[in-house]
Amino acid sequence: MGALYLPPLPHFDTTDWKSIKSLYGIDRYPYLHLNSGSAGIMPNLVIQQLAKLTDQMNQSPPYEFWDGLAELRYTNRKRLGHLIGARADEVAVVRNTTEAINLIVFGTHTQRGDHWVCATSDYPYGIGAMDQVAMTQGIKLSKLPLDSLDTLTDKEIINLYDQAITTQTRLVLLSHMTYREGRILPVKEITKLAQSRGAKVLLDAAHTYAHIDHDVKDLGIDYYATSLHKWLTGPHGTGLLYIHPSAVEQINPPLPYLEGDTHMDKFGHLGTRAFQNIAGLEYALTFQEVIGFRKKRRRLKELSDYWTDQVRHTPRVKILTPLAKGKSGAVVAFSIDGISGSVLLKRLYDEYGIHAKVSGYPGKSFIRVTPNLFTLESDLDKLVAAIHAIAAAE
Ligand SMILES: Cc1ncc(COP(=O)(O)O)c(C=O)c1O
Repeated sequence: MGALYLPPLPHFDTTDWKSIKSLYGIDRYPYLHLNSGSAGIMPNLVIQQLAKLTDQMNQSPPYEFWDGLAELRYTNRKRLGHLIGARADEVAVVRNTTEAINLIVFGTHTQRGDHWVCATSDYPYGIGAMDQVAMTQGIKLSKLPLDSLDTLTDKEIINLYDQAITTQTRLVLLSHMTYREGRILPVKEITKLAQSRGAKVLLDAAHTYAHIDHDVKDLGIDYYATSLHKWLTGPHGTGLLYIHPSAVEQINPPLPYLEGDTHMDKFGHLGTRAFQNIAGLEYALTFQEVIGFRKKRRRLKELSDYWTDQVRHTPRVKILTPLAKGKSGAVVAFSIDGISGSVLLKRLYDEYGIHAKVSGYPGKSFIRVTPNLFTLESDLDKLVAAIHAIAAAE
């Protein structure tokens, strides 16, 4: 394999959000993108590097290309882990959060009669993975009803977990930030009580990696799953799995091993895949490192506060996410009394050119808004105007 193509990092003013937005090329889209919760948008330089890497991979046998990336793969892992206080040898790059969760859920040793816990606020496919193992291996699965996160206090949430977790509980799936309304859960407290009863905690951090400041060792969790195509705006099909060193030998992932595989090596044998995506993480990381993760976090919260401050006292508008510092970030949900989430979604798109996401629970629907580094206050003014107009008109 020849030398890796590294396009020059364009000069940009890290204090000018307009200049940062221009590096995403998002202006060519005919709508306002407020759905980074589903997936971020890669900056142009990541797309360029990916295109070149795809071409390079296409010209060589994939595994030769993969082997040629050994050094870059290691430095990527080191940088990816560093962001959450983990070492390179404690993390594996996988394809997404779903895969990272599956590796733990399907790789956990079980005994008939074990008890597992998740919540209705968790991502459906995480719950689905637990359901599948529970069904086939005789595990009792408790699903906490966390459908009213707009009204529950942290203390009430901790109490619900406290009541559900017993000394028979072996695994708890926990969302760091809920995907529907963007609420940050009291992970540290729940983890402590789960572990004191002998359970392991699997954290779904799809929405907090490269978004909310956290350290896996400080949170104390055993397993951590995230996607890198959301808030890191890395290549689609990249995710990260962290396992606390004391827990790694207990997981037998449904993957082939090679002789000598230990620790996180066990999680790498996924066959031929889009290896260029893993290499392409480099520029996604560099781009955000240049901006600065601390500054990014502040900016994302600033953007949420900007639009919610202007609509939260508007008659009929309800914000379903606690806005206090430390309780949320850029993922915020709202509803307008008397209008279903799907109607609201359609009106936002058809009448105002705004792309957001409908979400909800049985009997309750709302809109999730997720700005990103490529969102400006002037973009959010359009959202605010739309919410005011829709809420006033009916
Ligand atoms: C909380 C949460 N977990 C897991 C996922 C799945 O992510 P992926 O499709 O990248 O595996 C999502 C996707 O939106 C999510 O919001």
